[in-house]
Amino acid sequence: IPVEVFDLVIFGGTGDLARRKILPGLYRRFVAGQMPPDSRIIGAARADLTEEAFRALVGEAIAEFVPPDRQDKAAIAAFLARIGYVSIDAKGTAGWDALRAVMRADVVRAFYFSVAPALFGDIAERLHAHGIADGQSRIVVEKPFGRDLASARALNVTLAQHFSEAQIYRIDHYLGKETVQNLMAVRFANILFEPLWKAEYIDHVQITVAETVGVEGRGAYYDKSGAMRDMVQNHLMQLLCLIAMEPPYHFDPDAVRDEKLKVIRALDPVRPEDIVRGQYLPGGGQGGYVEHSENPQSRTESYIALKCHISNWRWKGTPFYLRTGKRLRARASEIAITFKEPPHSIFDDAKGWRENVLVIRLQPNEGMNLMMMIKEPGPGGMRLMQVPLDMSFADALGADAEDIPDAYERLVMDVIRGNQTLFMRGDEVEAAWAWADPIIAGWEARGDRPQGYDPGSSGPEDALMLMHRDGRRWREIRE
Ligand code: BG6
Repeated sequence: IPVEVFDLVIFGGTGDLARRKILPGLYRRFVAGQMPPDSRIIGAARADLTEEAFRALVGEAIAEFVPPDRQDKAAIAAFLARIGYVSIDAKGTAGWDALRAVMRADVVRAFYFSVAPALFGDIAERLHAHGIADGQSRIVVEKPFGRDLASARALNVTLAQHFSEAQIYRIDHYLGKETVQNLMAVRFANILFEPLWKAEYIDHVQITVAETVGVEGRGAYYDKSGAMRDMVQNHLMQLLCLIAMEPPYHFDPDAVRDEKLKVIRALDPVRPEDIVRGQYLPGGGQGGYVEHSENPQSRTESYIALKCHISNWRWKGTPFYLRTGKRLRARASEIAITFKEPPHSIFDDAKGWRENVLVIRLQPNEGMNLMMMIKEPGPGGMRLMQVPLDMSFADALGADAEDIPDAYERLVMDVIRGNQTLFMRGDEVEAAWAWADPIIAGWEARGDRPQGYDPGSSGPEDALMLMHRDGRRWREIRE
């Protein structure tokens, strides 16, 4: 779908997300020829900067966050020529008229709110009051979208005073990841999996998002959030939805989001004994979570594992185990779908049988593995062995794999195209909080403390028990 000429305003244009992700991503799309001539990017922030000074900042962001072999002097100069800047007071009156003066009437107008959620309402209101946004304009809002159901609802109400749902793009950057979108292709463009994609044939599903980084540098935010709010309510929930949802009738924004919403609504409350929370200890010459968060009393979790059930026809009885944590052994995100045993074995004494497992590797080393049984070669009778049918994106796509757009690149372009499929709808975010809230309230009321775990490990001991108890085991966390 062609991209129309646009004016994209980035509120918080001097901030960390803009520097790391949004601006370098836009540069890469520019180089890919996806930014139509005359399109412009306008930074808006409190700092009193000249346009030249802001362009210099953008140039530095590209130098730092775009791989060197993708940096091209002439292209960078041409890109910077598209960049403008307006100094603006989100809570006051300064700068808004100047912003209106630079916006053009006959192009797509998009406003990226890369600012603290407390400012969303102020900015939305001023965009309207100053006649900068119209009924066609789009706004992009970053996470965290609230910290519970009440605050998410309040945010939705505030935004709805000035923008319709069709104009609001709530980002969950996991949906912009190529491998996450691939989940839909794998499920709905192959006939192979869908007939088996149900409790009758699937023993359980594991969703792992493991990170090696800690929370140093962002402890103040993180300590009020924790892994449940920071990762599970949004990113892991989206992965769960894409695995569990019914086939949408069409790859269309509301059709897809309707199906995801049904999954969230069908989630059972999680029992206290099915939750394990952890906090990383000091180790490897580094401080532990409480040092990084600067809160010696903190009960916030940097790791969580949960066993979830979806009460619907397709999934009744098949648990979904989710886990995510910081400072773990490796950075590795994957979804593993373990199938059940064949109904009857014809090989009486066959040794070596193991379950079929479909592993979808999200990052790094993106790819898919289907663990299959074959006969162990040799004359020794029927012995079985497990081998992977292995597909790595890098091998399958060759050089094209390097050109896969990063999540933010993809999502920003979808905003310009007016495609909401990979953005969360208001009711979806609220449903996810409605599920998460009682879980969090439960451990707060019980006064639960997270269990310590060593940095570089796979998380707290109790998380292993969560699986062992059911006669199952987590897959090893490795790159
Ligand atoms: C963010 C979280 O949304 O996602 C971070 O706030 C986390 O805590 C990050 O590190 C992980 O994203 P990615 O793309 O590196 O997997």
